[in-house]
Order: sequence, then structure tokens, then C-alpha cells
Amino acid sequence: MKLLIDDANIEKIKKIYEYYAIDGVTTNPSIIAKNGKKPYETLKEIREFIGKEAELHVQVVSSTAEEMIKEGKKIVEELGENTYVKIPTVPEGLKAMKQLSKEGYKITATAIYTPIQAYLAAKAGADYAAPYVNRIDNLGTNGIEVTRKIHDIFENNGLKTQILAASFKNSLQVLELCEYGVGASTVAPDIIEGFINNPNISSAVEVFTEDFEGLCGKGKTMLNCD
Ligand code: E4P
Repeated sequence: MKLLIDDANIEKIKKIYEYYAIDGVTTNPSIIAKNGKKPYETLKEIREFIGKEAELHVQVVSSTAEEMIKEGKKIVEELGENTYVKIPTVPEGLKAMKQLSKEGYKITATAIYTPIQAYLAAKAGADYAAPYVNRIDNLGTNGIEVTRKIHDIFENNGLKTQILAASFKNSLQVLELCEYGVGASTVAPDIIEGFINNPNISSAVEVFTEDFEGLCGKGKTMLNCD
């Protein structure tokens, strides 16, 4: 399962990239607005940092297929080839996906709440379909089950579309999808940091250090012991 960062704050992105193996960055209009800077300024800074090979997912804002297509083309022109045009999975969006995929653009079908939406997006040529796990949970339906169902629909129908699961509230949701082998998950920085924020792990490592220092002296490591 690929792991992407769902945020547009360059400092947070840099920090996560420093420690973890990350495959790219996803944004949406709300995430960009939260960052407070101009959209292309924010996105170009992210692109420059992650490099031209990494995935960057950027959402269109228009409401008609014709405008979504124009917006998608402009986004890729500005941010490079490995930029996925995120398009909401509504009727106008599906129309735009059909056209843009025919022209070879990379597409992420977003705002997916139901398996049938994902099926339609895959038929329209989307490379990724993004189910909103936690938002689905909040509707009283199981977001993990919906995502697994989408995975099975793609597999059982030979559809090439991958899942880019989104909208997570905790590590367990991510882990369950990793176990199921979905294509990718995009996760907020604080949740990624929480994956490994565990006092049991830290105290196990501290005991190793203490034992070693008991033998060789304070501050000694395998670099400078006898
Ligand atoms: C990604 O495609 C979505 O825009 C995002 O993950 C939604 O997350 P939220 O439900 O935490 O806003």
C-alpha cells in the first residue's frame, strides 16, 4: 500500500518526509484554504520539495465538466506530469473523467461514499478512486467495509483503478486497509506520527541504551566502545 500525506503545509510535509518513506501528497480545496497561501504558490512549493516523480493530487473546483476539464489541464500544465487531477464523483465529474482519461491525464475520483460511485469512476477511466473512510463512518456506515467492497469490485471486474483511501481518524483504519492490500492511503501528518508514537517502543529502546551504558559507560555506543 502506498502512503501519501493529506496536507498542504510544507513544514509538516518536510517533517514527515524526513522520517518516513512517503509516495506523495494529496490536497483538496479545504486543505489548501487552511494553509492560507495562494493555491499555486502552495502547490509549486510542494512539487519542488517532493520532486517531479512523486504523486501530487490536486482537486478541481468547477462544477461543469467543461470547466473541470480546463482546470485539470491547467493544474497539470503548472505542476507537472505526475499530478493527478482530483475530480468529485458526481455526474459532471464523471463526464470530465471520461474525457480527460481519454486524453491521457491521470485522474483521482474523489468524494466517494458508495461502492457504485467507485464503479462508475473506474468505468470512466479514473486511475484512483478515493473513498472517505471516516466520513462514511460518521454516516453510520462502515467506511472500512465500503472500501474493501470497492477493492473487491475492482478485482472481480478486472478494473485497473486503484483505491486511494482518504479521510482517516486513526491508525487502526489505515492498518485494516493495509492488511487488505488496497493500493494507497492518504493520511494527515498527525495520524502518521501517531503510527509509531508508543511509550512501550520508546521504553524498550531506552532499556537497551541503559544496559549498554552500564557496561561501557555513559554516552558510549558501538562507535566508541572497546
Ligand atoms: C482526500 O481525498 C480527501 O479530500 C480528504 O482525505 C478528506 O479528509 P477529511 O474527511 O479529514 O476532511
